[in-house]
Amino acid sequence: MPALGRLRYLDALPDANARPRGTLLLIHGFPLNARMWEGQLAFAAARGWRVIAPDLTVVATPGATVDDFAGVAIDLLDGLHIEGAVVGGLSMGGYVTFALVRHAARYVRGLMLADTRSQADTPEGVEGRKKMLQLLKDQGPAAIADQMIPKLIGETTKRTRPELADRLRAIIMTNPAEAIGGAINALMTRPDATPLLASIHVPTLVIVGAEDTLTPPALAEDLHRGIAGSQLEVIAGAGHMPNMEAPAAFNTALAEFLDRRV
Ligand code: MLT
Repeated sequence: MPALGRLRYLDALPDANARPRGTLLLIHGFPLNARMWEGQLAFAAARGWRVIAPDLTVVATPGATVDDFAGVAIDLLDGLHIEGAVVGGLSMGGYVTFALVRHAARYVRGLMLADTRSQADTPEGVEGRKKMLQLLKDQGPAAIADQMIPKLIGETTKRTRPELADRLRAIIMTNPAEAIGGAINALMTRPDATPLLASIHVPTLVIVGAEDTLTPPALAEDLHRGIAGSQLEVIAGAGHMPNMEAPAAFNTALAEFLDRRV
C-alpha cells in the first residue's frame, strides 16, 4: 500500500485513455481496511476516476473517534493536493463520511453512502460494543472475525460464494488488535448525524444490500428520505458488503450515479 507520512492508502490513477472525471475517495467499514475496495479500483479508474482509499487502521488507537478518521481522509486529500472528491463510505465508512461532511464539506463533490445509517448507537448498542472490546482483549482479532463475518455477508453469499468469508477473514487478520479496538471506540462514540442530512445538497447515492441485517434497507430508506434528491439503490442477493458480494451490480449502480448525477 502506498504511504504518505504515516498515512497508508490504495491509489488507482485514471486510465490514460479515459476522460478525467475527478477523485473518488472510498472509506472502509469495520473491522476491515482499505483492501475491501479492491473490486472498485480498476473499475472506476477505467471510467476516468482516480480512486483513493485511506487505511484508517493507522490512527485507530484506543481513544479514536470518527473525527480522527475523517482527519485522516482530509490529510490524505491535502497531502495529494486534491481539492474535492466524491466521498463514499460503507457502514463505519459512512459514519466517517458524515464526520467529513460536518467538518470539511468544502471537499465533498458528491456522496455514496453504502450500508450505513445516520443514527448514533443506542444504549444497548454501546453495551454490545463494550462486550466486543472485552472479547477483543480476551481473545484477539480472530474472535472479532468469528463474530462479525456471519453478519457481514448475506444469506445468498453464504450459499453461493462461501469463500468470500475467507477473503474477509484475511483482511481482518491483517489489522492490529489496537486498530480494531480504536475502531470500536469510534463506532460507539459517534454522534447522531441525522440533523446533518437536511444540509446535504451534493449528488448522493444511497446503496444497500437487500439482505443486510446490520444496517437493513429500512435505514437506507431513512437516509434517502433525509437527503433531498438522493438516489436509492438496493442490491439484490447481497448483505452488508454489496461491493464485495455483488461487485458487478454494485459497480454498475456506482458508475451510473457517477456518469449521470455527478
Ligand atoms: C461496519 O460494517 O462498519 C460496522 O458493522 C458498523 C457498525 O457496526 O455500526
